Parts: sequence; C-alpha cells; structure tokens
Amino acid sequence: MEGLIPTVLFMAIQFILPCFFCPLKPAMSRPHNNFTDLESLLAFKASVADPHGLLATNWTANASSFCSWNGVHCSHRRQRVVALKLPDFFLGGSISPHIANLSFLSFLDLSNNTLTGPIPGAIGRLPRLALFTLANNSLSGPIPLSIFNMSSLVKVSLAMNNLSGSLPSDTDHPFMLPRLQFMSLSMNHLTGSITPNIARCSQLQVLSLSSNNFSGSIPPELGNITGLNFLYLGANQLTGTIPASVGKLSKLNELDLGDNYLQGAIPKELGNLLDVQYLALDKNSLTGSIPMALLNASEISSLHLAENNLIGYIPSTLGVSWPQLEILNIRTNKLTGRLDFINSLSNCRNLQYLMLSENKISDFLLDSLGNLSTSLNYLYLNSNYIKGRIPSTIGNLSGLIDLDLGQNELTGEIPSEFSRLKGLQGMFLHHNRITGYIPPELGLMTSLNALFLEENALSGTIPHSLGNISGLQSLSLAANGLFSSIPNSLWSLSGILRLNLSGNTLDGSLPQQMGNLKFFDSLDLSKNRFSGNILSILGDLQMITYLDLSNNFFDGQIPISLDRLVINIEYMNLSYNRISGTIPKSLTNLGKLYSLDLSFNKLQGPIPEGGVFSNSSIVSLEGNPALCGALKLGFSSCPPPSNSKSNLCLLKYILPPIVLVVLLLSCFCTRLIFHKWGKKLKLPSEDALMNTFRVISYRELVRATDNFSEANLVGRGSFSSVYKAYLDDGLIAAVKVLNSENQSALRSFDAEYCALSKIRHRNLVRIISMCSNLDFKALVLQFMPNGSLEQWLHSHNYYLNLLQRINIMVDVSLAFEYLHHYHPHVVVHRDLKPSNVLLDENMTAHVSDFGISKLFLGDSQSILSATAPGTLGYMAPGNSIT
Ligand SMILES: *[C@@H]1O[C@H](CO)[C@@H](O)[C@H](O)[C@H]1NC(C)=O
Ligand SMILES: *[C@@H]1O[C@H](CO)[C@@H](O)[C@H](O)[C@H]1NC(C)=O
Ligand SMILES: *[C@@H]1O[C@H](CO)[C@@H](O)[C@H](O)[C@H]1NC(C)=O
Ligand SMILES: *[C@@H]1O[C@H](CO)[C@@H](O)[C@H](O)[C@H]1NC(C)=O
Ligand SMILES: *[C@@H]1O[C@H](CO)[C@@H](O)[C@H](O)[C@H]1NC(C)=O
Ligand SMILES: *[C@@H]1O[C@H](CO)[C@@H](O)[C@H](O)[C@H]1NC(C)=O
Ligand SMILES: *[C@@H]1O[C@H](CO)[C@@H](O)[C@H](O)[C@H]1NC(C)=O
Ligand SMILES: *[C@@H]1O[C@H](CO)[C@@H](O)[C@H](O)[C@H]1NC(C)=O
Ligand SMILES: *[C@@H]1O[C@H](CO)[C@@H](O)[C@H](O)[C@H]1NC(C)=O
Ligand SMILES: *[C@@H]1O[C@H](CO)[C@@H](O)[C@H](O)[C@H]1NC(C)=O
Repeated sequence: MEGLIPTVLFMAIQFILPCFFCPLKPAMSRPHNNFTDLESLLAFKASVADPHGLLATNWTANASSFCSWNGVHCSHRRQRVVALKLPDFFLGGSISPHIANLSFLSFLDLSNNTLTGPIPGAIGRLPRLALFTLANNSLSGPIPLSIFNMSSLVKVSLAMNNLSGSLPSDTDHPFMLPRLQFMSLSMNHLTGSITPNIARCSQLQVLSLSSNNFSGSIPPELGNITGLNFLYLGANQLTGTIPASVGKLSKLNELDLGDNYLQGAIPKELGNLLDVQYLALDKNSLTGSIPMALLNASEISSLHLAENNLIGYIPSTLGVSWPQLEILNIRTNKLTGRLDFINSLSNCRNLQYLMLSENKISDFLLDSLGNLSTSLNYLYLNSNYIKGRIPSTIGNLSGLIDLDLGQNELTGEIPSEFSRLKGLQGMFLHHNRITGYIPPELGLMTSLNALFLEENALSGTIPHSLGNISGLQSLSLAANGLFSSIPNSLWSLSGILRLNLSGNTLDGSLPQQMGNLKFFDSLDLSKNRFSGNILSILGDLQMITYLDLSNNFFDGQIPISLDRLVINIEYMNLSYNRISGTIPKSLTNLGKLYSLDLSFNKLQGPIPEGGVFSNSSIVSLEGNPALCGALKLGFSSCPPPSNSKSNLCLLKYILPPIVLVVLLLSCFCTRLIFHKWGKKLKLPSEDALMNTFRVISYRELVRATDNFSEANLVGRGSFSSVYKAYLDDGLIAAVKVLNSENQSALRSFDAEYCALSKIRHRNLVRIISMCSNLDFKALVLQFMPNGSLEQWLHSHNYYLNLLQRINIMVDVSLAFEYLHHYHPHVVVHRDLKPSNVLLDENMTAHVSDFGISKLFLGDSQSILSATAPGTLGYMAPGNSIT
C-alpha cells in the first residue's frame, strides 16, 4: 500500500532520531527505564489467560533479557520495548493498563486473540504508538477518548470486537490524529453519528466504519479527506442523501455505502471517482436514474446498485465506458427500457456476474447476448418483461454456471444450443410462454443439477435423454402440455430429490424402478392421467416430505405400514383418485404431517382417531361417502362391529399384557407417546422453502453470509469454518466451508457430496445443498437454532427435563439405526459426542458429522486414521469448533 513508505519513514524518525538525543536525556532523568518495561510486561502477562502456554515458559524473568521474549522487540541501544506483537497467540483475559508504561512502544499488535474487557484508556498516553491493532478480539466497552488524541498514531484497527458507545462529538473532544492513515472500527456495536471531526485526519487513506450501528447522515466533510483510497460505511443505519462531496475523493478505489437507509439520487459527482473499482450503493432507498456521469468512472469493475428504487434506462454504452466490469448487480429496482446495453457489455472481457432480476425491463433478447464474455458465470434476467425468443447464440456463453430467465414473457422454442453449456448447473426458464418440444440435446448438459421449465407451453414427450444428466437433483416440468408416459430413463436418476411433473397430460403407470429413488424429498405428479396401484409409489419413498399425487387415476389401497414407509412426510395429497379400502390407523403416527388430503376417493370404513384426524384444518376427507366416524369432521357414526364375542375376549384379556411388554421394551413406543403429547403443529414455511430447491451459487453464499463475515461465523475447525447464512429465499442455513488447502479433499468433494446428500433422516442434520467451484467447496446444512446437546448439558443457563432427555436419546438411536441399516458402507460416525448432537427449534435431536470426515479429508484412509476423530463438525451457535 502507498502508506507503507511514509510509515517506515515515520517509524525511522521515531526510533532512530531520538537516539541522537540520548546522551542529552539520560535514562535516569525519566522514571521509566528498562526495569519498568520488565514490570509492565510481567503485569501484562499476569492479566492475560494463556491457555497454550506461549508466554508461560518463555516470558520468565530469570531466563534472559525480556528482549528475547516471544513477541517482544527492543530498541538496540537502550534495550527498551518498541514493539509487542502477539497476534494469534490464543490469549484470553484482559489487557493490563500497565502496558501503557512501555513508554517506547510504537507497535502494538494483539489481534486474533480472545481478549475481553475494556481497552485501557492509558494506552492513549503512549507517546510513540504508531501501529495499534486489537482487531478480532472480544473487547467491550467504549473506545477510550484518549485514543482519538494520539499524535503519533498512523494505523489503528479495533475491528471485530464488541465495542459500543459512539465516536467523540464536536463538543466532547476533537480528533487529534494528524498522522493517522488507517482506521478500522468495523464490525463492532458502535452507535451515534459519524462525526465530521474525522475529516481532521487529513492523512487518512483507509476509513472503515462498516457493520456497526452508526446513524445520522454521512458528513459532507468526509470529502475533505482527499487522500482516501478506501471508504467503507456499509451495513449501518445511515440516513439522508449521499453527499456530493464524496465526488471530491478522487483517489478512492473502493466505496461501500450499501445496506443503509440512504435516500435521494446517486450524485452525478460520483463520476469524478476516476480510480474507483468497487462501488456499492446497494440495499438503500435510492431513487432517480443511474447518472450518465457515472460512466466517467472508467475503472469500475464491481458495481452494486441492487435493492433500491432506481428508475429509468440502463445507459446503453455502459460496457464501453466500463471495460473492466466484472460484476454488475442492479437487481430489484424499477429500471425500464431496453436491453441494448448488452451489446456494449461484449466489450467487458472479464464480466462474471450480471444480475438484472426483478426490474421492469421490457425488450427482446438480441443475438448479441452470445457475444458476452465466456468468463460470464452467472446471468440473471428473471422477473422482468423480456420478450421474444431465446437467441441460439446463448450456446456461446460457455462459462455459464447459473442462468435464470424465469418469469418473463419469452416465446419461441428452447434452442438446442443450450447443450453446449457444459458447465451449466442451474437452468431456469420457468414461467414464460416457451413453446415446442423439450430438445433431447439437453441431455448433454452433464453438469446440470436443477432444470426448471414449469409454466410454459411446452408440448411433446419428456425426452429420454434427460436420464443421462446423472447429477440432476431438481426437475420441474409442471404446467406444460407434455404427454405420453414418463421415460424409464428418468427413474435411473438416482440423485434426484425434487420432481414436479404436475399439470401435464402424462399417463401410464409408474414402473417398479421408481423404487430405486428412495431419496425423493418432494414429488408432485398431480393433475395428470397416471394410473396404477398407489402402493407401488408409496412403497419406497422413505425420505419424502412433500407428496402430491392428486387428480390422477391411481387405485389400490393405502398401505397399512405407511407410517414406516414415509416417516418424514409433511404434506400428502392423494385426493381425486380411485383409492379404495380403509384409512390405516398408522397414519395417526405421522407426527410431521401438516396437511393430509384424501378427499374424493373411494375410501370406506372408520376414520382413525387421534393424530392429524383430530384436527379438521389439517385433514380433508370429503367425497368419500363410505367413510364413517370422526363426527367432528361431519361424518356419521360407524355401525357397531358385528364381530363375535371371542374376538372381544381376545382383545380384553390377551392383548393388554402383550402391549404392556412391548411398551416397556421398546424405545420407539416411548418416543411415539411423548411425540404425540409434545407435538406442536408445524407451519409449512421453512420446509416448503426447502422443497423448492435451487442451486446455491457462490455469490449467494457470499450474500447470505455477508461475505463470510465474522458476525456470521459460528465456528471454525482445522478443516472447515461454519457460517450462519440467510439464503435469498429467506431460509436460514449453516454453511460449512472447506479450507482450500486441503487439496485431496477438494478433489473428491463432489462425489462424496453426492453420496452424503442422499442420506436423509429426521434425526440427521440435513444437507440442503452444496456449492462447489474449482477452489471453493461448501456444504449447506440445516440450521439448528437450539445449539448442541453439549451446551445444554454443560451450561448453567440451559436445562433439560427428563422427557426431553429421553426424547433426545431415542432420536439419536433412531439416527444410528438408520445409518447402520441403510448406509453401512458410506456412513461411519466415528465420534459420537454431545457436541455432535444438535437440537432444532422443537428440541428434536439431529446427529451431525456423519460421514463427513471422508468428505473433508478425501478418501485417503491414512489421513483419516491419523486424525483425531470428530474434529470436523458443524457446531451450532454458541459452540466452538474443536
Ligand atoms: C522465547 O521464544 C522465542 C521464539 O520461540 C525464542 O527465540 C526465545 O529465545 C525464547 N526466549 C526465552 C527466554 O525462552
Ligand atoms: C525461571 O523461574 C521459574 C520460576 O520462577 C522456574 O520455573 C524456571 O525453571 C526458571 N528458569 C530458569 C532457566 O532458571
Ligand atoms: C537494561 O538495559 C541495560 C543497558 O542499558 C542492559 O544491560 C540490561 O540487560 C537491560 N535489562 C533488561 C532486562 O533488558
Ligand atoms: C504503571 O502503570 C500503572 C497503571 O497504569 C501505574 O499505576 C503505575 O504507577 C505505573 N508504574 C510506573 C513505574 O510508572
Ligand atoms: C480471528 O482470530 C482467530 C484466532 O483467534 C482466527 O482463527 C481467525 O481467522 C481470525 N479471523 C479473522 C477474520 O481474522
Ligand atoms: C488474523 O487472522 C487472519 C485470518 O487467519 C489473517 O489473515 C491475519 O493476517 C491475522 N492477523 C495477524 C495480524 O496476524
Ligand atoms: C489530549 O492531548 C492533549 C495534549 O496532548 C492533552 O492536553 C489532553 O488532556 C488530552 N486529552 C485527552 C482526553 O486525553
Ligand atoms: C458485549 O458487550 C456487552 C456490553 O457492552 C456485554 O453485555 C456482552 O456480554 C458482550 N458480549 C460478548 C460476546 O462479549
Ligand atoms: C443495531 O441495533 C439494533 C437495534 O437497536 C440491534 O438489533 C442490532 O443488533 C444492532 N447491530 C449491531 C451491529 O450492533
Ligand atoms: C470541509 O468540507 C466542508 C463541507 O464539504 C467545507 O465547507 C469546508 O470548507 C471543508 N474544510 C476544509 C478545511 O477544506
């Protein structure tokens, strides 16, 4: 950085020049000498916690001069401490005020530790302190006023702490930091306004106040700090307009004002920022149009204007003006007009990300779309009014990973050139007016894992070739005019999780092979002409949560053991078919069911009591005239059974003891009883979201975790870090990012993921999705708001009653039964411990980490056995990763 040379010069002045005066100012004349330094260091050591013993054996008075202690650096001549560098020393405890007696100290770095307590105000009296960083600790309390009064300070970072309070205001105290070049206070809990006094720090090059709770407006005086290179004020609660004076910061490289409450227009003066590369004004309430003057900022490579109220046209020459453009995100505004700017974007050879979704653009897609850079990975034009055909030149965009043209007014056919997009993972053309056949060439798109073509006017049959896309996880062809039967090849897609074919005129019965697809999460075949025995479908869908077979010609009976076949089911609609027989009692055991529709079939006999059948808002049975019982639901009472007395006798005297024994012996029964008592009704929201699967892109993860911010970090281990993520669809998830140094694991990641993602059980932490690029691999997991069992067992703030303990025990044993029964090869849980048992919002236990060791270590057994087991877990909040 440019600041380095002045810094070095400054430090030279600090340490070399004073020595010219040494003879004139003998040490005796000062109360502080190298003995004071020793005392201060020992006092510092005494107040910190040093769990790794990095100071304990090293910092001892008898051994040698403190100048050779770890992290201590002395001036040569006087043997006085000039630098104390202890980053990443795992230090806890607090910072002793005695540190302020190190009167020659000019470099203090205690970053990346876990220090708590306040910042000692005395530090502000250190006359020579130039570089001062306490970043990434847990320091709390206000920033001492004295820190804003240090004439020697060049760089200060207090980022990533728990600091509160506000900056000194005009009247309180002036900013007297004449040498300051770098100030970062980001990621704390600072409040109040951004004082105009900051502008007195005329040497500032970097100013970061982002991710705090600053309010008020942006002081125009900031425009006076003309040497500023980086200005970050994002993720605060700033109001008012963007001051035009920001345009005076002609040396700015990066400007982030995003995620505030800023209003008004984008000032045209921002066009004077001739060096700006990163410009983020997104997530505000900005109005007006994109100023033409902004095109003068010709170095822009990353422009974020999403989620504002911008109107007007997108400047048509934007690509010519911004040749360096890599990211253009203007999603969710009210932009109108033409798409002709896409012509000019062909000039941007590094374009990776183009997002125009959710605007009001009404124009035709031109052939020039195919001239965009082959580095384009993400193209989102969805939710506009885009018309006309999809140009066949789309096949040129060979770098595409995600393409969303959904919810537009596109017509014409799907160009077969799509097959050239070998890297495309998500293809979303849903909700348009696309006609013609589904091109069989789509079967060549081997990377595809989500294909959404629903709500178009497609006709013909489902191409056999779709069965070649072995990684396909989500396929939706709903609400089209497709006919004939489902090609058998589709049932060989063993990884498919979500299939929606509803609202076509598909027919035939479903084949036996369908039983291979045990991992369906969501299956919707409603509103077609399928026939055959319902048993063949219900038989094997163990993991399914959402099942809609309504409005078909299915017949047969509901299997008696349904509760064991579909243990996870939440939504089941079998209405408008020809299903006969009685309703099995076991249906009352499906504790997660929030909607059951059996209406308009040929069911008969008594309606079971209890469970879902006691709640008329969950269950729908009308149109089955031969059903009886359940007076509350409006059915007539059943005729008394005409069975012989011996049967009754059997029921009365023999059955009860058997039931008793079974009850006592079986954990499962215990669980079922508790289950019924303790169950709250579940709202569809979260799980409905899970059903609508999307590919999760790296960009989305960046957004969802606020650029993997520390605030969202849940835990960190040697192989991975876990972040809490707010996905675009509102779902909260845990994202486990694999450390990229681990090359062997990176290689086998995709294959292992495929295996693991199929393992679904209500007592295992669910793997929702993954994100895999060349050098970035992450798993997206179900988020567990109630933390880990360990936390509940060992903390004073939490308490589990007996019932909960039994439930958890049973949950864990169910998970293991499942793992051992169904996945004996893939899944070995190497280390069950309370920290690996996580609790969801209903206090249902979920086992985490099953099989993940292999995923994260690659397939080398030697690594596996050489590593302490269980070091990889995703831990719920409040836990650290071991
Ligand atoms: C402390 O550790 C450093 C680095 O490991 C070493 O150079 C130094 O000699 C040690 N000092 C003492 C007093 O043990
Ligand atoms: C220094 O003193 C400590 C305790 O004061 C003692 O444990 C250690 O062995 C001593 N080290 C040397 C090298 O004398
Ligand atoms: C203090 O400084 C003197 C020289 O001025 C030196 O001899 C002595 O070793 C120093 N003491 C320590 C603990 O560094
Ligand atoms: C060192 O600092 C402490 C606390 O700030 C103070 O009480 C003490 O007088 C100082 N010692 C010397 C020798 O200056
Ligand atoms: C924060 O410090 C920890 C060590 O205490 C380190 O592992 C982590 O990477 C640091 N985070 C950042 C963002 O520097
Ligand atoms: C703190 O940790 C982060 C992440 O591990 C690292 O990038 C940074 O350099 C560390 N800071 C210091 C001063 O060591
Ligand atoms: C700021 O520094 C000046 C002189 O350097 C001093 O008089 C004043 O007391 C200091 N204020 C604070 C709050 O430290
Ligand atoms: C953060 O600081 C507040 C007080 O300012 C304190 O109540 C809270 O416990 C601190 N949190 C952490 C994680 O240190
Ligand atoms: C900002 O304040 C709001 C409400 O006062 C609080 O919910 C939020 O956590 C605060 N954010 C930060 C980063 O301190
Ligand atoms: C600082 O900026 C303000 C408002 O932009 C202006 O009125 C003032 O004259 C500037 N001060 C200096 C010293 O440039």
